[in-house]
Amino acid sequence: MDLSLGRSGPIRGELRCPSDKSLTHRALLLGGSAEGPSRIQKPLLSLDCKSTLGCLRCLGVGFETDAGGSLIVHPPTVWSQPESPLDCGNSGTTMRLLAGLVASQPLEAVMVGDESLSRRPMRRIADPLRAMGAGVEGDTPPLRIMGSANLKGIDFRSPVASAQVKSCVLLAGLRASDSTSVEEPLPTRDHTERMLSGLGVPVRRESETKVRVTGGSPVPGFEFVVPADFSSTAFFACAAAVLEGSAVLLQGVGLNPTRTGLLDVLDQIGALYEVRDLRDTLGEPVGDLWVEGKESLSPYRLSGHLVPRLIDEIPVLAVLATQLNGVSSIRDAEELRVKESDRIRKSAEGLRAMGAKVEEYPDGLDIEGPVSLSGAVIDPEGDHRIAMAFAIAAGFAESEVVIRNAETIETSYPGFFDDLRKLQS
Ligand code: S3P
Repeated sequence: MDLSLGRSGPIRGELRCPSDKSLTHRALLLGGSAEGPSRIQKPLLSLDCKSTLGCLRCLGVGFETDAGGSLIVHPPTVWSQPESPLDCGNSGTTMRLLAGLVASQPLEAVMVGDESLSRRPMRRIADPLRAMGAGVEGDTPPLRIMGSANLKGIDFRSPVASAQVKSCVLLAGLRASDSTSVEEPLPTRDHTERMLSGLGVPVRRESETKVRVTGGSPVPGFEFVVPADFSSTAFFACAAAVLEGSAVLLQGVGLNPTRTGLLDVLDQIGALYEVRDLRDTLGEPVGDLWVEGKESLSPYRLSGHLVPRLIDEIPVLAVLATQLNGVSSIRDAEELRVKESDRIRKSAEGLRAMGAKVEEYPDGLDIEGPVSLSGAVIDPEGDHRIAMAFAIAAGFAESEVVIRNAETIETSYPGFFDDLRKLQS
């Protein structure tokens, strides 16, 4: 389905964006490994999370929906040998996190993905899982995992700052002997650690970049309300910040500090925003984000520690840069080249097609603003965040922008266009 979008006036109103993808994946996976049933309120039922759900079903986990739309997870006593390959679809989180859990079970599973996922690097999880005693074949999908109930705990130094890698190893460590630690080059999102801790599993943070989990601790059944996804909220926060006259209240959003690097960027550019009514769900901070439009915002510079804290927001930040006064720069973001698409190349290509001045580097971009964008045809090549970032860019364009195969947005944000229209009307 191709979608045509035009220039946007100010955006206004209140909205709760769909629930958090990372947290829904983790709640499903931990619910499926728990000792008793769990209830997940407001789960995200996007394509990516449905991939996790489908794989867990193949392993014997049961799911039902209650009258209020919550998901009840019924874990089996032991996971069953899957009769067919576990289809992770487009979802790196499904494949990497589930691989850690499968590796610690006495069963053999083949994990497959779509064309994009089949290109993504898996050696980063295969190496530590092998060191723990699991058999892993394949450095890109399909992966064949020969699990073992006798994994041994390791001290793993990850070469990449990746929460998916960290979580894979910590989840494998849950059923390993002794304890398992992961040290990463830079701190990444800590949802897995927070959730495990919240469930009473011993998790020790040894430094800003090193965390240790003790093996053999049972995971109890739990109740969890999934907050709105900061990464989905980010599209409207960026649009509102630069469209003068805008005022949006983005409700119930997860504000885990390892995810909110975008707020640091909003500070840098001088945007008008406020966090209201801070609260908590299973150790995750949640609040409402108020953003108002303002003219003449400054450019930003992002690199180093900030990058993992806004890794999924970089495509929309690249779009935002075209509306700022000066050259914005993004560096140390080479990981973006191995996401659902090469997001550095796709952002540069799309913005150039719309008339922006963009310099591409191996690890980032320089983007000069402000520029009046022109219409273009954007092919997101199956990358949901590229599709949404260019839907926001369309709001700044002089003429029509066509997003090809826009249904890819269902990966993380079912109802994105309805929400965009609601705020634009
Ligand atoms: C995720 C971690 C990030 C992020 C992805 C979801 C997670 O990937 O880009 O969308 O849920 O752990 P990396 O940790 O590989 O950077």
